[in-house]
Amino acid sequence: MSPSAYTSSITAILSSSLLLPSVLMIACLLFLYLAYRLALRAFSSSASAAAATAPARKLPLPPGSMGWPYIGETFQLYSNSNPNIFFALKQKRYGSIFKTHILGCPCVMVSSPEAARLVLVTRAHLFKPTFPASKECMLGPQAIFFQQGEYHARLRRLVLRAFMPDGIRGFVPNIESVALCALRSWDGRMVNTFQEMKTYALNVALLSIFGKDEISYMEELKQCYYTLEKGYNSMPINLPGTLFHKAMKARKQLGQIVAKIISSRREKKVGDAGGLLRSFMEAKEALTEEQISDNIIGVIFAARDTTASVLTWIVKFLGENPAVLQAVTEEQEEIMNSKVVDEEEKSLSWADTKRMPMTSRVIQETMRVASILSFTFREAVQDVELEGYLIPKGWKVMPLFRNIHHSPDNFPNPEKFDPSRFEVSPKPNTFMPFGNGSHSCPGNELAKLEMLVLLHHLTTKYRWSVSGLQSGIQFGPFALPLNGLPMTFSRKI
Ligand code: HEM
Repeated sequence: MSPSAYTSSITAILSSSLLLPSVLMIACLLFLYLAYRLALRAFSSSASAAAATAPARKLPLPPGSMGWPYIGETFQLYSNSNPNIFFALKQKRYGSIFKTHILGCPCVMVSSPEAARLVLVTRAHLFKPTFPASKECMLGPQAIFFQQGEYHARLRRLVLRAFMPDGIRGFVPNIESVALCALRSWDGRMVNTFQEMKTYALNVALLSIFGKDEISYMEELKQCYYTLEKGYNSMPINLPGTLFHKAMKARKQLGQIVAKIISSRREKKVGDAGGLLRSFMEAKEALTEEQISDNIIGVIFAARDTTASVLTWIVKFLGENPAVLQAVTEEQEEIMNSKVVDEEEKSLSWADTKRMPMTSRVIQETMRVASILSFTFREAVQDVELEGYLIPKGWKVMPLFRNIHHSPDNFPNPEKFDPSRFEVSPKPNTFMPFGNGSHSCPGNELAKLEMLVLLHHLTTKYRWSVSGLQSGIQFGPFALPLNGLPMTFSRKI
């Protein structure tokens, strides 16, 4: 029975009076249909993997276990609230390259800096980015993450033009206004740190995309984005009423809003609003409206929760390490005092943010310890040999950033939060909070800038304390202090 035939039979049955038995029957049919699809997929993936491996039979597969048919080791991965425990245990048992089977896909996980570099940099052409189809259609199929080759290189040039230092240095005073406004709104109340950091990161992302002057449509755009976000991790069932369906509708509306902004810019011939949209609109080889909107939605997505998670961890680690907080505060107070002219505090400049080595080390160490992106995904486009093992075509390959960041070979006493370790550069390819290679993060300069600006005002003007005694970690999907770190912030004087 095809899915569409199945849907029409649902309608027919619901209109009859035998509602309950019919619903049970539907549930049974749905179960059988899903079981059939899963079995078919499991069979075809193992068959194609077997066919692909045929020419390179002599090489062994990496050590490891594949678990149960189809479900593989998915339950083991998720049985712990922290998936990093699974990765660490596997590495201890099998070494730095091992195979497993997660969510219906055979995978090879790699945790040596050399293997991660091969996958992401030197032999990156053999490993394509890969995402579940539902995520791809929600973010936009033409977004940068999913691309390779010429179109990817073209997009990357345009994105980097907007987010490299020359593209963002002019935004410092505007980012500062966003930071001050956020901090004022937290004063004297208990806040969910992560939620507040998300608001901050979203406002900075919109500023860096649409430029300083764009104010129309921003509220509408935010509302649509919130709906999209709610559906992002939901079951991909596109039926009216589901979160997924609402998210897809919101995605369409976001595209329409971006189209309206583009057309009003073209009419008014607004030249200098700055930001990513300008970079896209000025592209020599024009991008279509759809390509622009897919990439704008994608960048908001890439910029927001990542930066907000890191900022939340920084607040936590500074709170737990008074000596480090003291050192950061002193560094920031010195800058603040140098900015006071006629009893008035002048705006921060790009150059000021380059005089913050201690704060920068805190950011680096936080990104190492928290490793909010524990890993990334690629897919082998052909049979590949890696460290003497075969990776069959179609298998997923996951460089485990967190394992590399937490290896005592790369970072002695790795669980300790110690920003001073970054007084010396880490060994090559051992520190990759922004990834590596042609898909590494083009927003890293902006992320660092917005964190420095917020930390400048936070440490010089506010104190904070954890509300409640909860400690722990949650994943949503990025690693995060439990419950988003409820905190009370108050002004120092
Ligand atoms: C602390 C905050 C951030 C972290 C930790 C982070 C981390 C990463 C990582 C690890 C990747 C590579 C993923 C892979 O190789 O599969 C990546 C890609 C990306 N990031 Fe970030 N990111 C952050 C902030 C931002 C910001 C602020 C922006 C934009 C303004 C941004 C835009 C992007 C884009 C567009 C990509 C895809 C690049 C491509 O596929 O060529 N990120 N990010």
